[in-house]
Amino acid sequence: MIQDLFKKVVSHSKKYGFIFQSSEIYDGLSAVYDYGPYGVELKNNIKDYWFKSMVRMHENIVGIDSAIFMHPKTWKASGHVDAFNDPLIDNKDSKKRYRADVLVEDYIAKIEAKINKEIAKGRKRFGDEFNEEEFRATHPRVKANLEKIADINKRMSESLSSGKLEDLKALIEELGISDPISGSKNWTEVRQFNLMFNTQLGNISGEEGKLYLRPETAQGIFVNFLNVQKTTRQKIPFGIAQIGKAFRNEIVARQFIFRMREFEQMEMQYFVRPGEEMKWYDYWKTHRMKWHKSLGTSDDKLRYHDHENLAHYANAAVDIEFEFPFGFKELEGIHSRTDFDLKSHSELSGKKLQYFDPEINENYIPYVVETSIGVDRMFLAVMSNAYTEEMVPDASGKESERIVLKIPAALAPIKATVLPLVKNKEELTAKAKAVFNKLKPFVNTQYDEKDAIGRRYRRQDAIGTPFCITVDFDTLEDDTVTVRERDSLKQERMHIDELASYIKKHTDLSTLLTKLAD
Ligand code: GAP
Repeated sequence: MIQDLFKKVVSHSKKYGFIFQSSEIYDGLSAVYDYGPYGVELKNNIKDYWFKSMVRMHENIVGIDSAIFMHPKTWKASGHVDAFNDPLIDNKDSKKRYRADVLVEDYIAKIEAKINKEIAKGRKRFGDEFNEEEFRATHPRVKANLEKIADINKRMSESLSSGKLEDLKALIEELGISDPISGSKNWTEVRQFNLMFNTQLGNISGEEGKLYLRPETAQGIFVNFLNVQKTTRQKIPFGIAQIGKAFRNEIVARQFIFRMREFEQMEMQYFVRPGEEMKWYDYWKTHRMKWHKSLGTSDDKLRYHDHENLAHYANAAVDIEFEFPFGFKELEGIHSRTDFDLKSHSELSGKKLQYFDPEINENYIPYVVETSIGVDRMFLAVMSNAYTEEMVPDASGKESERIVLKIPAALAPIKATVLPLVKNKEELTAKAKAVFNKLKPFVNTQYDEKDAIGRRYRRQDAIGTPFCITVDFDTLEDDTVTVRERDSLKQERMHIDELASYIKKHTDLSTLLTKLAD
């Protein structure tokens, strides 16, 4: 049922011009996607909302747009050359390549499914008396399976943190994990696979000229820390925000735009006084959750997930998870990155990346709290949250099914569409075009005269247009139109002079930004 929703979102995205497989005429390129006419509008609106919520709403946050290519030493200093790896395993029979940790996680998911089945049975049997916590702690099969999961997780995490990958291979063999495609258990050794794509500078041969496509936008911010601080005269605490492409040679790239090889990130690094990082970490944790909830996402679809195994640079990390159609998964990460990056760049570049704090009369390397969210993942969250199938009355009052994208109005690709009631009446189409021309400088507007009015409404519902404006014979008399609201289906008569301010008032980004004020 839930997987069903996922399939529907994927096919709807293609059918209505939101997302296409990259190079589709050549059978596509795995885990790379193109955004279509409505997709690019929605994506730009998501980015706009994020950027304004950071830069416009915080007078101590500024934006940058750094290059994708960076000096190769950047990635040595950041740790990506040595440690940005996934454990890879090949199946010798099927020649398929897998992430060893994902094979184990999939195995764990199967045990979890068994546990959930037992819990569902228990709930059915005991009704209101059912206490899930007690059931988990006492039911013999559930208890044994929970212990098994804990043991597998512990062994996997020890093997990954110690680098003893032979232990991970032994675990896979012991659990009897087979290739999901061929069923074969004929595995190679587990080895580390660096996720960075690389290329070569034209004028320098060999290792010297080796360049990487950035795997995160954050490093472009760190190397510009002094440039930005000096030119904007920011005092700590202050932040630098950036939106841009990132590239990762993912071994397992799946779930549509959830895990891609070319994607976009929206990252903000907040530079703080050492010792104050936990205060700011808590601030950003709360503030970012507020941003997600400002979009109307229900509380039960969002949750925090604290990291148990911290990355080498972090002293605290949490994910904001969203309930995608395939379960709760990471949407955004908030990391307290200590002074790791600035310190490391200082050491390798020989440039002092420090700040003189006039309030305490001290020079120091600032600590950093980072918020990092994937644009494409956010796009998928918005689409899955918005996709709705429901029964509604049509023009004749008869109930019929419609598919509607209930995208928050401020993010909707098209804000309003102007529709002449019928197509073949010159006075009506001329008037409707005049209304369209009047509106388009103010809000993203479409004009549509093809097909019966009911079908045109459905087409606009399917792309999430909040307002449909119908021009009819009365309009020719009194300059009023009918404005139909997407979700409530309420229709209101309005003078055409009021339209622009009405639509703007209900679809402007400010409707979201005002919810964020601290
Ligand atoms: N600078 C920190 C950083 O890059 P991350 O957890 O690796 O942290 C941050 O990535 C966010 O970027 C994730 O929460 C996710 O939204 C997005 N992201 C990461 N890898 C992705 C991929 N392969 N495809 C799409 N989005 C991805």
